[in-house]
Amino acid sequence: MNQDYIKPDSWSIIEEGFDADRVKSSESLFSLGNGAMGQRANFEEQYSGDTFQGSYIAGVYYPDKTRVGWWKNGYPEYFAKVLNAPNWIGINVEVNGEPLDLFKCKAVENYRRELNMKAGWLSRSFTATLQNGMVVQAEAKRFLSLDSDEVGAIQYQITPLNNDAEITFQPYLDSGIANEDTNWDDKFWDTFNVSHENHQAFIEAKTMKTDFHVCTFMESKVFVGDKPVADEPKIEVDNTYVSLSYQHQIKQNETFTIHKFGGYVVDRNHDKDHLVSAAKKVLKESTKKGFSKLLEEQKEAWAAIWSMSDITISGDIKAQQGIRFNIFQLNQTYLGRDSRLNIGPKGFTGEKYGGSTYWDTEAYCIPFYMATKDQNVARTLLEYRYNHLEKAIENAEKLGFKNGAALYPMVTMNGEECHNEWEITFEEIHRNGAIAFAIYNYYRYTGDYSYIPEKGLEVLIGIARFWHQRANFSTEKNKYVILGVTGPNEYENNVNNNWYTNYLAKWCINYAIENIGKVEEEYASDFKRIMEKVKLSTLELAEWKAVADNIYLPFSEKYNVFLQQDGFLDKELISVSDLDQSQRPINQNWSWDHILRSPYIKQADVLQGFYFFEDHFTDEELKRHFDFYEPFTVHESSLSPCVHSIQAAKLNRMEQAYTFYLRTSRLDLDDYNKEVHEGLHITSMAGTWMSIVEGFGGMRVKNDKLSFTPKIPKQWDAYSFKVNFRNQILKVEVCQTGAKFELEGKKELEILINNKSVTIAPNSLMTA
Ligand code: BGC
Repeated sequence: MNQDYIKPDSWSIIEEGFDADRVKSSESLFSLGNGAMGQRANFEEQYSGDTFQGSYIAGVYYPDKTRVGWWKNGYPEYFAKVLNAPNWIGINVEVNGEPLDLFKCKAVENYRRELNMKAGWLSRSFTATLQNGMVVQAEAKRFLSLDSDEVGAIQYQITPLNNDAEITFQPYLDSGIANEDTNWDDKFWDTFNVSHENHQAFIEAKTMKTDFHVCTFMESKVFVGDKPVADEPKIEVDNTYVSLSYQHQIKQNETFTIHKFGGYVVDRNHDKDHLVSAAKKVLKESTKKGFSKLLEEQKEAWAAIWSMSDITISGDIKAQQGIRFNIFQLNQTYLGRDSRLNIGPKGFTGEKYGGSTYWDTEAYCIPFYMATKDQNVARTLLEYRYNHLEKAIENAEKLGFKNGAALYPMVTMNGEECHNEWEITFEEIHRNGAIAFAIYNYYRYTGDYSYIPEKGLEVLIGIARFWHQRANFSTEKNKYVILGVTGPNEYENNVNNNWYTNYLAKWCINYAIENIGKVEEEYASDFKRIMEKVKLSTLELAEWKAVADNIYLPFSEKYNVFLQQDGFLDKELISVSDLDQSQRPINQNWSWDHILRSPYIKQADVLQGFYFFEDHFTDEELKRHFDFYEPFTVHESSLSPCVHSIQAAKLNRMEQAYTFYLRTSRLDLDDYNKEVHEGLHITSMAGTWMSIVEGFGGMRVKNDKLSFTPKIPKQWDAYSFKVNFRNQILKVEVCQTGAKFELEGKKELEILINNKSVTIAPNSLMTA
């Protein structure tokens, strides 16, 4: 835990004082992104201390050849790696010929870094005393434009404080970069053209194997005081590097400034043979506007995002900072503009998880995007899976399934499975269920049924086919069983009849059947098109139904709870609170076999099912299952505390709900899991949003109506959030004495407050 490191502030993440040991953690926390590219908060100037360099381009990856001890048939050939992309932010600085390097300075004082979430920029300032005795003041500010997502801008300023000095700015591009995480130390980038023209430079490179073409570009302008200077830069070029140097004699207390514009154009959006001209066009537009105008536009773009997605919390500044950090990072990662992109668990903040798509998107992220953006954004996320249906069918075929059964990958970049731990790749099949659930959730929330006949039904059929084929009939149990799986709790592998998986399988089949019927009745031409494609017989449907109706759901009469899996009660049921605390986190202290034999649960498993299918169970059943499973839960997945927070709030255990909330919202800011240097937990940030809106606010959709049961932790004075429900914007404010609901727009809206129906008129306030 790292509680006092980040200064509490409602709109900014602030670090004060330079500490070389914190550089890698801060590089994650202060990361920038704009949905199309992102970067860790690496310094512009050179740094010889410990650092984790990372610039990432959405959708650009490398298939790193699988490396395992013992090959198993069906393993994916590769693991997709998000690539550290060419560096465009670098600006070497020299003062009287000595490089400015914070690791080598005699002193670094007044160091302050700020990530301003309101306006979307990052700044850094410090006073450095170099080995040569020069004292300089440095100020750097940068952002990645939201409006023009191929470009970013940096303003970097040096003021000599104790003497005149010769200052050099050397902005550069560098494609001679590597990944920290590689299986075989392969070279990932092939640079084939390095060029420059006046104050501009370009590096064209393509990824090995995947052949993504990228042009990394930059243009610089320098100023002495306020005056632009038009010196010819000194050029250095080699095969993977180009720099332009600007040198000036600067008087004591005078400021030397560089504006650097840079970024990437990629062949996903441009003709690969004309990337340099595409880059020139981007540069022309951005330099014409200049740093200040771009920064103004950046503030406006973020203001528009915040006006819909902000959550305010009064009376608890750390909670306020935490939730804004989560909302900010989600918007930096994904904006829903491109259906080929998705939300990696680490976004643009690190290499772990390969930047790939997991079930996290459907289970955790969709509710956030559905409620805080136009509903097309959630639909775009669903389409991502529709577009990968053929690949999911091929994936299932590789594992021996047939007849259009679809198994979506646990981890993917392009629809192919690219994760190769057998217990995850082959066994964590519950991901298929989350993809079907997201279709249901989308329809439940938006009321847009058109997605199902147009695209969703084919996905539901592929998934139902998979579950039908994956289950087998046990004569012993006289039921269908699903053997050899890993549930959401990855601390159990190869178990039989994971309750969550079996329950989800049953639901998926029933939901597919229900929708086949509805589409047949109401969308005849879509029905015809789909049936011609999937060739579904009544016999097959009857077989599906037999599985759904007779699936085995492990249950303990003794405890009156569903069992996480067969044999769960054979474990030594010692609760987490009785564990020696020095053993936590168990995934960093215990051998894997020790973990597997223990009863400890990494994240919500049975309770994940109770979260998805809340209406299928009574509050009494939820309470019983929560009380049974939570004491064994170690919450070592970032996805865990949010589900528990929502359920604790539902059970009126506000203290517990609040503790879970803090843990989810400040997981990275306070570095609970001691791993923030690797990157941030982006997808669980959507879970943090759910903890407030669904947990404390109690928001649900019941029979086409929004429903709320507002509660508030005693630590807060008030909180508020907005949701876009079927193109109507509702603002909810909850304080210790009650709740207020305010509707924007032209139409009235009927909602449920504490299960009572009320109608809110447009532009009016309702108090409850
Ligand atoms: C969790 C998975 C999750 C993955 C990516 C793992 O630690 O157990 O449920 O999909 O992280 O966030």
